[in-house]
Order: sequence, then structure tokens, then C-alpha cells
Amino acid sequence: MTERRKILVTSALPYANGSIHLGHLVEYIQTDIWVRFQKMRGHDCTYVCADDAHGTAIMLKAEQLGLTPEQQIAKVKAEHEQDFADFLVNFDNFHSTHSEENRELSELIYGRLKANGHIASRMITQAYDPEKQLFLADRYIKGTCPKCKAEDQYGDNCEVCSATYSPSDLIKPKSVISGATPIDKESEHFFFKLPEFDAFLKDWTRAGHLQDEVANKLAEWLDAGLQEWDISRDAPYFGFEIPGEKDKYFYVWLDAPIGYMASFKNWLSQQQGTDVDAVFDEYWNKDSSTELYHFIGKDIVNFHALFWPSMLSSAQFRTPTKVCVHGFLTVNGKKMSKSRGTFINARTYLEHLNPEYLRYYFAAKLSSSVDDLDLNLDDFIQRVNSDLVGKVVNIASRTAKFIQKSGGTLSANIADETLWQQFVDADATIAEYYEARDFGKAMREIMALADAANEYIAAQAPWSLAKQEGTEQQVLDICSLGINMFRALLTYLKPVLPALTEAAEVFLGETLSWEQPVGFRGGEAINKFKPLLTRIEKDKVDAMVEASKEALAEANAAAAPAADSELGKEPLADEINFDDFAKVDLRVALIAKAEHVEGADKLLRLTLDLGGETRNVFSGIKSAYQPEDLEGKLTVMVANLAPRKMKFGVSEGMVLAAGPGGKEIYLLEPHSGAKPGQRVM
Ligand code: 2FM
Ligand code: ZN
Repeated sequence: MTERRKILVTSALPYANGSIHLGHLVEYIQTDIWVRFQKMRGHDCTYVCADDAHGTAIMLKAEQLGLTPEQQIAKVKAEHEQDFADFLVNFDNFHSTHSEENRELSELIYGRLKANGHIASRMITQAYDPEKQLFLADRYIKGTCPKCKAEDQYGDNCEVCSATYSPSDLIKPKSVISGATPIDKESEHFFFKLPEFDAFLKDWTRAGHLQDEVANKLAEWLDAGLQEWDISRDAPYFGFEIPGEKDKYFYVWLDAPIGYMASFKNWLSQQQGTDVDAVFDEYWNKDSSTELYHFIGKDIVNFHALFWPSMLSSAQFRTPTKVCVHGFLTVNGKKMSKSRGTFINARTYLEHLNPEYLRYYFAAKLSSSVDDLDLNLDDFIQRVNSDLVGKVVNIASRTAKFIQKSGGTLSANIADETLWQQFVDADATIAEYYEARDFGKAMREIMALADAANEYIAAQAPWSLAKQEGTEQQVLDICSLGINMFRALLTYLKPVLPALTEAAEVFLGETLSWEQPVGFRGGEAINKFKPLLTRIEKDKVDAMVEASKEALAEANAAAAPAADSELGKEPLADEINFDDFAKVDLRVALIAKAEHVEGADKLLRLTLDLGGETRNVFSGIKSAYQPEDLEGKLTVMVANLAPRKMKFGVSEGMVLAAGPGGKEIYLLEPHSGAKPGQRVM
């Protein structure tokens, strides 16, 4: 047995303003598998995470929902924790960046950066919403592109002509939040002097802490020259106030990674008899011999591989052992799409399918590279059914009954030594693949063993042999080897399939451990075999996709603006050409009737008059309007959308209402002169 390592592991902290979806789960499942593997191998591995609770987006989301930010983050935290638990993501601690530990550590680190001369301050001019009295980040400003004149473009780049500019260049800029025209306003900001870490980073990024492809990308940025990093935001802001300053807050990305430390500290404080400060210091002191692994997506590499190590080094803390970067999830080869129903929330998945199907599929596709990972839904069904049900579980279901028939005790004879030795010898290779996060290779190795086991059982055909006289011992020996091969396979699969393994452990009457090379078990009893896993039915997958489309319809008009996520992570829909767009028949419609829908949180049922023809449409605008306020108003609808069966009835079109989301949605006023049924373009 190698030395017991002390490893602290983190996954990126999810924002406290949205639901966990399958895109997020790539990372949590990847990390959880790695952590379970380390624990199984006897290492002292601690996995911490937290909600990323600060920032303008969360403040606005809470306001939109009529909650305090504290209520909002508590609600989302409970949701996130349930989703993770149901996907068997087993954090040792899930905390929040809005915590006392994080406040103290953020103040401590900032204080050290400042004392070391690594903080600069200067006045900057920024766009300001005079109505909402809020400085506006670029994504909260929209207007006409100065170059191609496309309307409704964000403050930093044009999605039509790809021009980049500053918000002040936009023609007719508007605040996404209030609709007001932004003004320029000066305020003092604080900056982390990143350029002073240039030499440190050139060295650190090439010292084995990163995948080569990541280090190469960073080298491009380092060669282009680093900029000072703005780490302050003006009030109103939901976050921690900067000590000694008035109405200045730490930018969410300053205290977010410190949240890793805070969650660890919070976990330590829950461990009885632990000297919290001593163990915290053991893990975080600058010469620590413990290991620190951060698992992240490729979009947040700069925060974790430039800013974070520099901050830690200035503040005299250790830097990460490894930052493990993964790619994005695509579904059926494309970006996840709400309209295609492939933007699937964790909860929607769980309502239809077993979480271990996805854990296995992701494991089978994951590697140590930053390549994107595709969830092809047909391949998903085929692969899970063939590998897990058809190969692995099948070994036990074909052999267990013969053990029961001969009394339930495994034979100590190894019927085929060479074959068994293959299972023992695979141990080191599979472990190396897990360690290197090459889970796909580990799964292929395991499935090759499963193939060998099935071939052996098919060739020996114990079911035929059992019909002949005097073959009882031979049948028992063959099937005992079958069960032992199954034990070995499940030992190797346990980090990926903890629940399936637990059920198998009940059948085997033992806990499968992987601290030693797997040994042959004979002379001991096993229990009656019960089916361990059912096949994925295609209709369940179809139902999940349909439900995801329905969730979109519900959320549609009620959704917050795209600016909702701090990084705008939600993928944009695929581009369409003008002909596609011209197919959309937009009509003015009179809202003749608006009613609540029993059991729907966000939907209203609208009866729309198209100048003679009426349509029944479900629209997710309940959070913005009382039904009685809508009646008699005009709106624009997509009149040629195919009718869609929803949980509450058939929806015959879609209302196009726009606004910042939540409380205001702009409709046409009756005096606008528009007539029901009139074509809009
Ligand atoms: O990109 C995100 O979703 C961030 N909330 C990740 C934060 S990770 C860490 F630094 F806190
Ligand atoms: Zn443009």
C-alpha cells in the first residue's frame, strides 16, 4: 500500500441563482468519481463545495422574486443540495460563500494583498443606470451596434457582426434592468496588480499544475501582457464590504475561490475533536505537503490559473497542486438547446431516469483533456443497456441461481486461473486511469474484462452442464468464478456506480473495498440475487426531452434576461437564417381572457383574439401580471407555431412579451393603433 495522501478537492461553486443542469453535472460527476476512487484506495480525501452566492445577478434575481438575497440563496442552496445528493455527488461539505468563514478569510487575504502593495486604486468611469441607481456591467446594457447597426446588442460585442466595443460606443444604449439611458459616472475602484505576478505565473503555469493544452493557452495570454484586475464593485451590491472603504464591495470573483477555503474551514469546525486552526494551516500553509485539486470548466481558467495562484502566493498560502479543466457538454452533437429540449435540468432528468445511467455514460466519455463531451441520447441508451445491463449485471444474473441451487456457498476452487489472473492484474492499469482522470479508458478496460467473463460463461454454459449427472461441483466452480469476476468488476466500478454497488453488496454479503488488489472469495455464502438494474427505455428519454421543452414554455416569458448568469453561461440558440425567420408569422392578438392555471407556478391561460379566430395559449407571464390586468391588452404572438400538448392542455401559439423579466413585460397598449390579426412584419 502506498502512503496515505491528504487531498483536498473542490468543484467550481455553482451560482445561487439558477438550477443545476446536465452541463454542470459533467464536472460534479467527474470530481465525485475521482474523490470516491481516492477514498476507496485508502487516501484521506476531502471534497468541498459551496454555492457562489454574491453578485449583481443574484441581487437582481432575489428582487425579481420578491425575496431578500439571503432568502434567495437559502432556497437555491436547498435545491442544489438535493440535486447533488440525488445524483450521488457526495460532498464532505457544501457551504456558501455568504458565510462568516468566507468573510474572515476574504478580509484576511485582501488585507495581505494590500499590505504587500498588490492593491492599486483609481477612479474609473462606468455606465450608470440613473433610474435604478446602479453601475451597469456591460451585459446589462443593450443598444444598436455602432458598426453594423444591428439592434438589441449587448454592451461589449455584437452578435451579428462580431464587433467588440465599449458600451459608450453603442447607439441608443439602454439599461437592460430599467430601460433608462445609461449615463457615465466616475467612482473609485480597487485593482489587484496582476502584472506583478508575470514571472511567477510564467513559471507556475509550466510547473505541472495544468494540462499542457491549458498551459499553452495561458502562455498566449501571458505573452500578450497581463492587466490589473478590478476586484471592487460599488453599492448596491450583494457581497462583502471592503474593510476600511465606504460602499465598496469585493467583486464576486474575489471571494468565490476563497469560498473553497471557507467551506473546508467550516467542515473542519464540524469535526469533533479537531484543532481547526492547526488542520487548516496544515492544508493551506505555503509549504503544505497536502494536495489541493480544483476541478473546473474551461471557461473559468483565468480565475483559477492566473488570479487565484497569484492571490494565494501574495497572501502566503499554498497554491493548487492541480487545476483539472474539462470541456463543455453538448447534447446530440450540438450546444444544449432549450427549444430542442436538450437543455435538461438535473431535476427533470431525475424525474425520468436513474442517475447512475448518466454517471456511467459520462465516465465512459470522460478523459483528462479539455475536449467537449457529447451526450448522444441514442448512444446513451445503447451504451448503458449494453454495458451495464447486458454485460456487467448479466454475469451475476446468469450464475447466481446455480450457487443458490447448490446451497448458496461459493466454491474455493478457481475454475480458470488464467482468466481470474486477468481480473487481478487489471487492477493497476484501471487505478492509473482513474488517477489520471482517464475514466473512459478505465471503463473500456473494465468492459473488456466483462466481455471476457461473458465469453467464458457462454462457453462453459453452466445451464446445459447442470442438466447432466455428476456435474454439480463443476457448475459451482464455474459460477463461483462468475461471481468473483462480477465482484472484481463492481469493485472497479464502485466510484462510478455507488448505488448499484451497494445493492450488489447486499447480494454478495460484503463491502467491496479496493485498498488491496482484489482477492478470490470462496467458501463463503452469498444471498439470493435480485435484479440490480433495468434497461433504459427510449420513451423515458423522449419524455425527459419533452418535459424540458415544457419547462421552457413555462419559463419563457417569465425568465430573467440573459444577463442572469454572471458569465452568461447559458448557450445562445443556434443561428437561423433570414428564411427561417421569415417563416415566423407574427400577429397582433387581443388578450380576450386571462386565467390562472391550477397547479402551474408560472403559467397563465390566455384566450387570444386574432381578429375573428381565437387561440388558447399558455404563457409563462404569471409573475409579471395579474390575469385581470391583461384582459383587453394587445400583444404579439407567433401565430403559426404548431400546437403543443402541455401538461395543462394544448397551447396554440406563443406570446412574445419582452422585458427585464419578472415584474415588467411590455405589451402593446390598445391605443397603439394595432389591430388584432394584423401581421407584424
Ligand atoms: O462560473 C461559475 O459558475 C462560478 N460560480 C464558479 C465559481 S468557482 C470558484 F472560484 F468559486
Ligand atoms: Zn454589429
